[in-house]
Amino acid sequence: MWLTGVLAAAAVLTAPKWLPARVVALRGKVFEKVNGDRAITFPNADVGPDRFEEVYGHPAANGRSRGAGLSDLFWYWLSPGPEVHQEHLEAGPRYDDVARTTRALLSGPGDVLSEAAARCTNRVLDEVVTGPVTLVRLRDLMMPVWAEYFHELVFDEPCPRAARDLIVGHADDVVRSLKCVSLRHPARRARLTRYLARRVAAGDVRRPLPASLSPTEQVHYLQGTFFNTAVVQMSEAMAHLLLALAQHPHVAARLARDERYFAHVLDETMRMYPLFGIAHRITTADIELDGRTTLPAGSVLCFSYPDYHATGSPRPDVFDPDRWEHPDSRAAHHIPFGVAANRPCPAWRLSPLALRAATREVLRRVTPHSTVTHTRSLPSGGPCLLVRAGESPRGLGALGAFLRVRDRWEDVWRSVVQLVLGTVMVLHAHRLRLAGRYFDTHDTEGRPVRREPPSTQEITE
Ligand code: HEM
Repeated sequence: MWLTGVLAAAAVLTAPKWLPARVVALRGKVFEKVNGDRAITFPNADVGPDRFEEVYGHPAANGRSRGAGLSDLFWYWLSPGPEVHQEHLEAGPRYDDVARTTRALLSGPGDVLSEAAARCTNRVLDEVVTGPVTLVRLRDLMMPVWAEYFHELVFDEPCPRAARDLIVGHADDVVRSLKCVSLRHPARRARLTRYLARRVAAGDVRRPLPASLSPTEQVHYLQGTFFNTAVVQMSEAMAHLLLALAQHPHVAARLARDERYFAHVLDETMRMYPLFGIAHRITTADIELDGRTTLPAGSVLCFSYPDYHATGSPRPDVFDPDRWEHPDSRAAHHIPFGVAANRPCPAWRLSPLALRAATREVLRRVTPHSTVTHTRSLPSGGPCLLVRAGESPRGLGALGAFLRVRDRWEDVWRSVVQLVLGTVMVLHAHRLRLAGRYFDTHDTEGRPVRREPPSTQEITE
């Protein structure tokens, strides 16, 4: 009896060490089972890292949504309007129209794009950093910055506070449901849709919107691409960058002396913590790899960024920006913005510029300190202490110790929440079948298709 008690107590006390990883693995299994796809993950034993980009960039690896159970889940998370999110559109004239608009909205002189990022960062820091030490979650710190930034980029005017709250409410809801720490809240997202609908109807967008989309679809396109993906990705990237700097003060110190070092710091951060865990494609024809291996049409190909990045250089688990001083980009297996041959990120140019400007402003005003676990998915949002420049407060060590203990125990609780909420959402998405139902009634250009009624023979079979 006492032995059971001791074992139970030991299991509870050591839970921060073993439970979160097991729960993540279990969640992966649940997702796989419910989606029920014929999924193949790369790199694998047959297709190693040396052929990873060849398969990713293959012309037949170009299906995005139709024909994969996984799509139902992504459409569920990226609602409303997942059917017109650039990421989800199938190749064709409508995709080209949307991609052209995104490129136009993201373009501009580098100094203007950087200055806007610096301005938005400073505005938010003025509000948040009011004492010598401020405890923040880095993702929450950065979301209002990028909400303001992309509002300016889309509407060419400063972001009113009320609009910023709507954008942050929406983006935060998306990222928290994606990480399974919360369910989604469609009503919160709909408030932003109504705001954007008013602005689109008034003709306030800086560039023409895709003519091939209806007015409602144009609103959903803006919401999905600029006020979800852009805001979420930039906030995640900044959270990883600042957390890495908080935990490697010598890197932060060198960056403060030499801003050219930023490119290496960003490369190294994105190498270790790529924003995409998996990107998937659906094959639209057979892919012949060699005499022996064929990937049949209709396969769901999952490209694992962390696994691929880990094969490109020695000591992959060590955060070492200096490794980029001897770059051999082909051997580096480094694709933070995707592969050029197959729908890479349209913000490939803008993101580093804006991230650099925002990082510069943060480091000019505060020194980040953090003792929390830094993982790729970062469901904690990156708890961090910001120490105002010029201050050397007492008790920082004790605060750091508190943060570490709190983070480990939050991890235990959160991993169980993620398992439960993740399972609920996967089952809900499976039942709603958003992508599947859409393609039952639409072609890949979004045109309604009329299904022939089943023949008498089919009915009797
Ligand atoms: C550091 C920041 C960012 C990183 C690391 C990043 C990374 C990526 C990656 C790896 C892909 C390709 C995924 C795949 O192959 O399926 C992608 C696609 C995409 N990204 Fe980004 N992204 C970032 C910021 C942004 C921003 C600011 C936007 C703003 C609009 C954006 C919009 C998109 C879109 C629309 C796609 C889909 C492209 C297509 O299918 O044509 N991303 N991103």
